[in-house]
Amino acid sequence: MPKTLPFDDSALARAAEILRRGGLVAFPTETVYGLGANARNDRAVARIFEAKGRPRFNPLIVHCPDLAAAQRLGALSAPALALAERFWPGPLTLVAPRLDQSLSLLVSAGLDTVALRVPAGERTSALIEAAGGAIAAPSANPSGRLSPTTAEAVAEGLGEAVDLVLDGGPCPVGVESTILAVDETGARLLREGGLAREEIEAALQTSLLTNASSSAAPEAPGMLESHYAPGSLLRLNAVRPEAGEAWLAFGAPPAGGAPSLSLSQTGDLREAAANLFAHLRRLDAELAGTGRIAVAPIPETGLGRAVNDRLRRAAAPRNGDAGAEDS
Ligand code: TXA
Ligand code: MG
Repeated sequence: MPKTLPFDDSALARAAEILRRGGLVAFPTETVYGLGANARNDRAVARIFEAKGRPRFNPLIVHCPDLAAAQRLGALSAPALALAERFWPGPLTLVAPRLDQSLSLLVSAGLDTVALRVPAGERTSALIEAAGGAIAAPSANPSGRLSPTTAEAVAEGLGEAVDLVLDGGPCPVGVESTILAVDETGARLLREGGLAREEIEAALQTSLLTNASSSAAPEAPGMLESHYAPGSLLRLNAVRPEAGEAWLAFGAPPAGGAPSLSLSQTGDLREAAANLFAHLRRLDAELAGTGRIAVAPIPETGLGRAVNDRLRRAAAPRNGDAGAEDS
């Protein structure tokens, strides 16, 4: 097991030192735990792919301490800047043309753009700042597995591949950031996530284009169908569990009998997002990773879109490990 420390000031200093020297540190963000490396160090970034067992070099999100730091790394268009001012720090990632030649090319996997995000949390921004101001970090899970929302889940999944895990408690949002590519011609939604589409559309006063509705849109690489997979199979939009199935409820108390949890007994989609990965993990563990989990229908609004996106990926047919690619 890797070393895990409570995320206090002395752990922060130690983590920053490890990152500056090219090591890997798992740290909490408001969305999920990230597996961080110095984004200016190719070898350190390469270690991320190695630690996750990623089948391919997908581009990674670069985490910045604040908006000014992000603007030095990527050219934010006027509408992108407006969104950044409105929603950062927070669960939004913006894809922009690269500006800083010192960023590792591996971070962008050869693209001339970079994905930027300013995560919430004072300690987290202090860490990024102390480590040099640009931390590349995918979710801190082995490729294709559930994203971790606790330090325990990180340590369990990555083991010795990470130099230090910072424990900041459970992640409040619980699903990864929403990814947008924004320029003067419009905003394309590359990944549903912790910032609801409706909030972005209200801020922009226009609808988002999705990859499906815009043929010019670049793919968000790494968005393969099978993803975020627990060991157990999933049956979505289930009315009730069948014999032998575990039950993941929504807006209702968990059922008696079979292993059962509710994403939110009050039908709160934010709470459901925050609980999603941790509940899937717990049910999967109860089934020893070999059973089936029936999942209640989740409304396709607000954060329900991100929850449904992750559930569909977790439920998609799996073509062995090569098909399960991380994002
Ligand atoms: O909430 C999050 O976003 C978490 C926490 C740790 O910050 N991070 C995360 O990173 O989910 P990752 O690496 O698992 O997902 C990055 C996604 C991938 O789908 C990747 O393809 C896309 O961002 N991406 C990165 N750079 C891109 C670029 N230049 N153009 C298009 N998509 C990009
Ligand atoms: Mg991920």
